[in-house]
Amino acid sequence: MTGQSISSSLVERRTFPAPSAAKLGVGRFHVESLADYHRLHARSIADPAGFWGEEAAKLSWFKRWDRVLDWQAPDARWFVGGTLNACYNCVDRHVQDGHGEQVAIVWEGEPLSPRTHHPAPDSRYAHEPELRTLTYRDLQQQTSRAANALRAMGVKKGDVVTIYMPMVPELAVAILACVRIGAAHSVIFGGFAPHAISERVMDAHSRVIITADGGYRRGDIVPLLKNVQEALEQTANHGHIVNHVLCLKRTAHQAPSQRFSTGDHLGATVMHWWHDVVDSASDACPCVEMDSEDMLFLLYTSGSTGKPKGILHTTGGYLTYVNMTARLTFNLMPDSGQLFWCSADIGWVTGHSYVLYGPLMNRVPTLMYEGAPNFPTMENGRGDRFWSIIARHRVTHFYTAPTAIRTFMKWGDDLPARHDMSSLRILGSVGEPINPEAWMWFHEHIGRAKCPIVDTYWQTETGGHVCTPLPGAIATKPGSCTVPMLGIDAAIVNEQGQELGPNQGGLFCIRKPWPGMLRGVYGNRERFISNYWGRLKDPHTGEPWYFSADGARRDEDGYFWIQGRIDDVIKVSGHLLGTMEVESALVSHPAVAEAAVVGVPHEIKGSAICAFVTLKPAWLSRNGRAPDDALRKELGEHVVREVGALARPEQVRFAEGLPKTRSGKIMRRLLRDVAAGVEKITQDTTTLEDFSVVAKLRTDDE
Ligand code: WT7
Repeated sequence: MTGQSISSSLVERRTFPAPSAAKLGVGRFHVESLADYHRLHARSIADPAGFWGEEAAKLSWFKRWDRVLDWQAPDARWFVGGTLNACYNCVDRHVQDGHGEQVAIVWEGEPLSPRTHHPAPDSRYAHEPELRTLTYRDLQQQTSRAANALRAMGVKKGDVVTIYMPMVPELAVAILACVRIGAAHSVIFGGFAPHAISERVMDAHSRVIITADGGYRRGDIVPLLKNVQEALEQTANHGHIVNHVLCLKRTAHQAPSQRFSTGDHLGATVMHWWHDVVDSASDACPCVEMDSEDMLFLLYTSGSTGKPKGILHTTGGYLTYVNMTARLTFNLMPDSGQLFWCSADIGWVTGHSYVLYGPLMNRVPTLMYEGAPNFPTMENGRGDRFWSIIARHRVTHFYTAPTAIRTFMKWGDDLPARHDMSSLRILGSVGEPINPEAWMWFHEHIGRAKCPIVDTYWQTETGGHVCTPLPGAIATKPGSCTVPMLGIDAAIVNEQGQELGPNQGGLFCIRKPWPGMLRGVYGNRERFISNYWGRLKDPHTGEPWYFSADGARRDEDGYFWIQGRIDDVIKVSGHLLGTMEVESALVSHPAVAEAAVVGVPHEIKGSAICAFVTLKPAWLSRNGRAPDDALRKELGEHVVREVGALARPEQVRFAEGLPKTRSGKIMRRLLRDVAAGVEKITQDTTTLEDFSVVAKLRTDDE
């Protein structure tokens, strides 16, 4: 795909200038002009030690570092010899500085209870949500209690604690409690199935899980504890014992199997209710001094091979990078009336960096919403909860994903129009390329054609934004993530590492280390090197460069346009899924012989999953199954059970056999075309795809 020019008719030409601070109604911008950006960026690349040293100095350190960077590609050690604590930087520092009574977290629960005071202006708001705010002092007290409770379970510095919780304030408390005592967190998105939990718990050698009885989602209850219990059985079958489960009571919905008292055993695991052991714990618990390069967290992400990868981030570098990117991209400033809302779940990196760490370090209140955008649900499944949240809380920053924006577009212009969203100043997009139509809708209907949109390109592995407009400095173009972050030496290159000219499609790479970069794939050095560092190198010095696995181009103004993944991962609703993960789930079904999964373009989800499946013959599967709708549905359910609802295939297509190259590789490119309807392979409309005609076309180039 490298080296291809983009036809000019496909090029988006609209440009929106960066607003002045006065026009936008903000005090000032951290970076105020394009010239300032160029100057700062040039300096950050020319003098990385000076630049990053200044950024790191914005955090609070127990001990200052001796050297900014030791770089032995691909191993980076940032702020060598320095010590600090993440919870201290998010919480205690602010209390120490006299801001203990300021709001740190504004939380809104999903369920609505009947309004008790003032009468509702209209019947749709006859109910009101549960609201909670936590100050920095509240967070200090609660993280200390939770940390002491974890200590009592034997958690110590260096351990990995798995967290599988709904979007409630205790999730933030749980994360910060871990880092308070030097334990790393591994947060698993609440939408994942038991198998995904057990896989991650075992890979991380995690002995303690923090969860909740259930979580609310679109009025339903997600059975979190039940999923954990199933995962515990699976890990036990593999000889991995989880010693403790700490469980928050959220839904009070207790199926018989979930009833327990603190201290009860479940197999070899001791169960604890949060309200029994956290609420009564001491609220004195000093923040443990951590080395800059000590592990802060693991976050699992899908790769092109079956098993998810535990992306490892360390303390000093990650915090420095997230502190800076949150400040610059969103122009965060304490004490200036900002309320930042990132609608991502904390189970994804976006939530780690920009629901939690970024705003807390910058002392800007962060809003957490527990549930779905369409609860309460209106006619045709629509909902305006997000707009109501923005209006009621006077949100100033709204950061969301293109897949959500496309859904809101479909739900209609009338919904945002009903709400006063004049508090908004900056909008953000993340997770996948945003199509210009969705960008324009976001701009007009949510941003009142006034708010700059920051289209932030980055990855779990990069820790924070690597390409994004800075709202006061960079003119935006719908669909472009614009320019590299300060300190990021980004380029579009071909396989040989040669930089390509304007509008030549190539590989997005980063040529210099940056503090937020991943330090490893947990327990898998080989995968760390082959996935990220084995593919591209400096053609002159031979030094490895960071390879993103994204295809992209850069236009004549130096703006980056991300084209999407070039490996076997699919972005469904902004979330990565490995084709292998879904294929392994499919072939674990007794009726399935072989499966191949590809992405198909989807109006709302960006991409959706299309699974091609061949069935075992009757004599092999004993209960030979017919390729019918009942089986299609069953396979869909099976994938949801094994991987999670995100992975549910949009289409299940049965085939006689899968098209393969002479060397036996599945011809995915062909399958993608077939799935997208580009290529017509079937001669008729029976249920079986017949790929025999492609036998003639087979090549070994896939
Ligand atoms: C992949 C990383 C980044 C946090 C959430 C996802 C795609 C992400 C953009 C964007 C175009 C984007 C890339 C990247 N991506 N943001 N603004 N424009 N593509 O993190 O799950 O690690 O996914 O998301 O393909 O490689 P992730």
